[in-house]
Parts: sequence; structure tokens; C-alpha cells
Amino acid sequence: MTATRFTELTGCTVPVQQAPMGAVSTPALAAAVASAGAVGTLSALGLELDQVLRAVAKARARTTGVLAVNVLTEDVDEDLVVAVAERVRLVDFFWLDPRPRLVELVHGAGALASWQVGSADEARAAADAGCDVVAVQGVEAGGHVRGSRPLRPLLAEVLGAVPVPVLAAGGIASGPALAAVLADGADGARIGTLFVATEESGAHPGYKRALVEAGPGTTEVTGAFAAGCPLCATNARARVLSSAVARVSSFDGDVVGTLSAGGREVPLPPGAGLPPLTAVSGDVAAMALYAGAGVAGVTAVRPAAEVVADLAAHAEAALRPGAGRSTGRR
Ligand SMILES: Cc1cc2nc3c(=O)[nH]c(=O)nc-3n(C[C@H](O)[C@H](O)[C@H](O)COP(=O)(O)O)c2cc1C
Repeated sequence: MTATRFTELTGCTVPVQQAPMGAVSTPALAAAVASAGAVGTLSALGLELDQVLRAVAKARARTTGVLAVNVLTEDVDEDLVVAVAERVRLVDFFWLDPRPRLVELVHGAGALASWQVGSADEARAAADAGCDVVAVQGVEAGGHVRGSRPLRPLLAEVLGAVPVPVLAAGGIASGPALAAVLADGADGARIGTLFVATEESGAHPGYKRALVEAGPGTTEVTGAFAAGCPLCATNARARVLSSAVARVSSFDGDVVGTLSAGGREVPLPPGAGLPPLTAVSGDVAAMALYAGAGVAGVTAVRPAAEVVADLAAHAEAALRPGAGRSTGRR
């Protein structure tokens, strides 16, 4: 579809990055997205270096498409950054202030560096640090929310503030929504929630179903899911389904569910930051059901390739001359 500075820089063909989403973004998901022409992203969250490299190898074995790895929080393992930069096209950072040293490490190992930001000041700091791409996150975003501004005005401000390609993130869950940010001048979109409800994602079936069933206006930003959450020490704000907030606030008990990991059953307290994964059992509806404000655009659990193809086709149609939108950027 439409070429942008992001597609030209990274080598993808669809101007979309599947957002990193902890263990929800499995190697199978990233590979399926990459094979469909967008950027597939893995997450290093909570993993040791060898585990991350195994995940990258698994995804790489399934696709020749464009892959990224996301590194989160202030506690950065520089060896991990270098090792992933040697293996994927894009290394992606979030929830820490832009650091020139990390960008240098990424470039030195031959990859591109991207930073997700929540304000124009942070975007300027990312560009000044040498980042090749900036993802701007509006308050509509599912998961942990860095800033407090709605996407569209923030996007306009960031586009005026930095010379590098800009991805728009938050509440984008359909082709027309993708077309709208491209028409505003974005070089692509970073999309999370829509990819939670795919066959390849690591989300619990009950979580996927809850997203499919959610209509407009059913999400909120909350601090209700901050237990054991590495991001929440700095800022416990995350967008989730409102039904999960209501359910956990009336939950009576010390354990909302368990996570099966490495042969152990780990109890999860009410308000745990971990979203329900396939390896989780218990009261899924009372867990951290991260969801963006565009959740009504999630209408079925589909193969990720179908989601990417559908986004591209519908965005293209909305951008066609006569459809009322156009993008001036390449
Ligand atoms: C379930 C879930 C988990 C997320 N985990 C991460 C993460 O590990 N790292 C990260 O940079 N962003 C994470 N995000 C936020 C995304 O980068 C992005 O800003 C967001 O998904 C965009 O909004 P949308 O979900 O409405 O598309 C997560 C989002 C969701 C929905």
C-alpha cells in the first residue's frame, strides 16, 4: 500500500508496527505480522537474554519480514540491546527517557532505533538522541499510557517538532482509522489491541472474547492493575476494559488466578499487572484486560495476516482520491 518514510526506512510494505505487548506478542504473532508486510514486534519484558534470543530465532525461522524487539523501563541490559540489534531491523524503547547511549549501541550493531513517547518534549529528546523513528502514544492507547493527551493534536505537534518518521499509536483499530492518521501526516501506525485478538497472540481466549464483545466507550485509564508491575513504580496508568476495573474492585479474596510457568503455579493477587495469558487460569474477567479506546474495532478473533491485509485494504480505499482523504507524505 501507500509508501511512507517508515516503510522506506524499515523495508516493510504496510505502514503498521504491531505493538510489543509482553508475552501477548508471541514469536508466532510477530512472524505472521512481518510475513503479511507490516513490522512484527517481540518484547524483552521479564526475559533473560537467552530467552529473548530464542524468541527472536523462533520468529526469524518463520519469516523473512521486518522484525523489531522492544526494551522497556529504566533497567536496561546493554548486552541484550546489542544482541537484539544484531538480529532485527528495529530496536524499540518505551517507558524510559531517551538515551543517546542506547541509540548508539543500536546503530553500532546495525539496527534502527525507535522510541515511543507521550509528549512533544519527549519526541524532541528522542530525535536529539539520534532515534530513526518516533512513535507518539495518545491517551487512547491500550496498556500503559505514558502521556495524557489525545492522539490527533499530539501527533500534529510531534510532526512539527521532529524531522524523523512518526508512528501514531492509540485507539487505531481499523483501516479508516489508519487512513486518518496517515492523512494527518503520520508515517504509519503502531497498533496493539487489534493484535491481541488474533489467533497467534498469547492472550487468554477469555481476554480475546472480552475485546470482541466490547463496544465503544468501554475502556478507562486506571491504576487498579499495579501489583507486580515493573512500569507502575514510575506511573501506574494503564488503559483497560472498564468491566475489569469493576470486577476487580468487587473481587473478594487474595488470589485472582494462577500463572503456570516453568512447572510452577504462581498465584496472582487481585490487581496484578500481568494480563491474562494462555498460561493463566482463574477469574480472567477480573484481570488486567488492557484495551485501547478503539476496542469497538475488534470484531472477531482472526489470523494476524488477515488483520494486516484488512487494515491495508481498508486504509487504501479510504485514501483513494474521491474517498475524501489524501496523504501528502512519502
Ligand atoms: C496488552 C498490551 C500490552 C502492551 N505492552 C507493551 C509493552 O510491553 N511495551 C510497549 O512498548 N508497549 C506496550 N503496550 C502499548 C503499545 O506500545 C501501544 O502504545 C498501544 O497498544 C497502542 O494503542 P492500541 O492498543 O489502542 O492500539 C501494550 C499494549 C497492550 C494493549
